[in-house]
Amino acid sequence: MALLKSNKVIQCLGNISPALGVLSSRHSSWWGGVQMGPPDPILGVTEAFKRDSNPKKMNLGVGAYRDDQGKPFVLSCVRKAEALIAAKQLDKEYLPIGGLGEFNKACAQLALGAENEVLKSGRNITVQTISGTGSLRIGANFLSRFHGGARDVYLPKPSWGNHTPIFRDAGMQLKAYRYYDPSTCGFDFNGALEDISKIPEQSVILLHACAHNPTGVDPRPEQWKEISEVVKKRNLLVFFDMAYQGFASGDIDRDAWAVRHFIEQGHNIVLSQSFAKNMGLYGERVGGFTVVCKDNEEAKRVESQLKILIRPIYSNPPMNGARIATTILNTPELRSVWLEEVHGMANRIIKMREQLVAGLKKEGSSHNWQHVIDQIGMFCFTGLKPEQVERLTKDFSIYMTKDGRISMAGVTSGNVGYLAEAIHAVTK
Ligand SMILES: Cc1ncc(COP(=O)(O)O)c(C=O)c1O
Repeated sequence: MALLKSNKVIQCLGNISPALGVLSSRHSSWWGGVQMGPPDPILGVTEAFKRDSNPKKMNLGVGAYRDDQGKPFVLSCVRKAEALIAAKQLDKEYLPIGGLGEFNKACAQLALGAENEVLKSGRNITVQTISGTGSLRIGANFLSRFHGGARDVYLPKPSWGNHTPIFRDAGMQLKAYRYYDPSTCGFDFNGALEDISKIPEQSVILLHACAHNPTGVDPRPEQWKEISEVVKKRNLLVFFDMAYQGFASGDIDRDAWAVRHFIEQGHNIVLSQSFAKNMGLYGERVGGFTVVCKDNEEAKRVESQLKILIRPIYSNPPMNGARIATTILNTPELRSVWLEEVHGMANRIIKMREQLVAGLKKEGSSHNWQHVIDQIGMFCFTGLKPEQVERLTKDFSIYMTKDGRISMAGVTSGNVGYLAEAIHAVTK
């Protein structure tokens, strides 16, 4: 085989029979056994949307914020931070393996609260990551390599679609606990507690810190307290995924409540953070991964191993987005502009939820749509069945994932009426 692929042999055969020479080079392939894979379930929706020529088309698949004109939104605090950074004429030297030190500090402070005892005693290690996905993957790799307990990760059912391949590709086993109750379109608190109470000790449990994706259903504080108790009894390692801090309620501290409560209760959690949504830094890929340790000495050891893990993957993270986020977090005027802007984004989404339900009532829908208002964050789990979703796409050019999840961020005052009309048409 190796001999046949050698240029010399092909040329030589080509000389004898030119047709054979051409044939050999054209048909030689390394990847004949590679099967065509399915399109990504979320990004595939966008591809189909792009091909649609209906002027009324709506893309409610992907979770990226849009302004009320349906346009991508760059926060003004980001523009201002970019200008400040540009004026400094900074160099482009590599960042350290763990990223920008100032960013890591500000990132952990944002999640845990600046006064948190964990930060004061230096028993956390936080590294800059390639947004939330990169953070989850570094975390998953770290668990896979070092977690002494079970290799099982329990995800809420359902969870963000990418959680499964992230943990699976890192060599962990995927399990699930009940979370969403389709009969109420709300949180299955009893089901979740019952399942969690049976998880084998020392397993890993993944919790969405706020604005659960895809359901928009979060536990209430008193429910979080009970979950924390059961998790403690089972001695589970908690992996918090916080991709929407500020986006759920508009208040960064309120959205971090569960994370801070668990820490207060003595859970040494691991935490993934993303700045994609709350700063609109999607393509800049800004995130952080934190491990809360027993003490500073343990944190140092963990840090050394995180570096060893990161180095052969991407060596060190990109700097631009981290500089923007750090400038916003550490410049008081920009930070207050940011807090207002996060609040503004969250409020626009809450308003759209209310307008959608009002629109459905106006259309004459007799269903109970209260869950659309009660759910929180960017996504709404409508309860629409796959055939209704299919009709919305086919008859109304409204694109969403098959599970009936809509990104409220893609709904505007201009198209919410059309969406209500279409949902009513497929549900009456
Ligand atoms: C629950 C959850 N975790 C993590 C992410 C990671 O996003 P990114 O890699 O863009 O930060 C997302 C994005 O949709 C998400 O919904």
